Amino acid sequence: MKQTFPHTPGPIGVFDSGYGGLTILDEIRRVLPQYDYLYLGDNARTPYGTRSFEVVYDFTRQAVVKLFEMGCHLVILACNTASAKALRSIQQKDLPLLDPARRVLGIIRPTAECIGGVTTSRHVGVLATVGTINSQSYPLEIHKLFPDIVVSGVPCPMWVPLVESNEATGEGADYFVRKYIDQLLATDEQIDTAILGCTHYPLLLPKIRRYMPPAIRLVAQGEYVANSLLDYLRRHPEMETHCTRGGSCTFYTTEAEEKFTESASLFLHQPIKVQHISLE
Ligand code: DGL
Repeated sequence: MKQTFPHTPGPIGVFDSGYGGLTILDEIRRVLPQYDYLYLGDNARTPYGTRSFEVVYDFTRQAVVKLFEMGCHLVILACNTASAKALRSIQQKDLPLLDPARRVLGIIRPTAECIGGVTTSRHVGVLATVGTINSQSYPLEIHKLFPDIVVSGVPCPMWVPLVESNEATGEGADYFVRKYIDQLLATDEQIDTAILGCTHYPLLLPKIRRYMPPAIRLVAQGEYVANSLLDYLRRHPEMETHCTRGGSCTFYTTEAEEKFTESASLFLHQPIKVQHISLE
């Protein structure tokens, strides 16, 4: 059923299953500080990484509709799992019915686009959630652009819980960081580039660097996503004029506000104010 959303220009919506999208938002705001942003974290239902296609699609669709209702014309799914499992259905099935002029963009395609210029051996590894690896989204997107690249993926189910429980720099994290890196190296010894295909993983970078051979280049997504958005807005002036320019950022969470504020400080090193919102 066709819904009516506000027509006036509004903020750019940034959605994640929880806190991880804050690492993407941070880079986007660094490259495009002039726009207004509305960040929505579905912390009450995180993690998405272990959930089925149907559930991730359903949750993500609810969030996109909410962001449209709140005035966003453009929404970034700053979550690999949501980009892998929900983006295509939302773009193809829902947008034509909801409002064909609004746009939802993911973060896997911009990462795939950069890979061809980074790898020399043409062997690339992907470290991501179980959901993202099982979806095969990285090999599919990379092969559309660079069919010659060999892509190997390893799921890292313990990395998000380590970050969320503030153990990313603790001694206990070493075991699981090393375990998944060793699995990746054992899969293909010609890998020269490793994609950190989950928004939480930049917080594990010091440990990942410790166990990843120095010859392997690490690709964190934030910078690529931000530059891709810059390029998108340049190529789509009709969308750019629908994005307000006040330099503000408003945060919403489906969990308790105090909990979000406390944990968000691990991801953004500045105090923020957050408001509770319900998606159901
Ligand atoms: N933000 C998610 C991603 O990038 C990870 C967290 C989750 O599993 O919900 O895949």
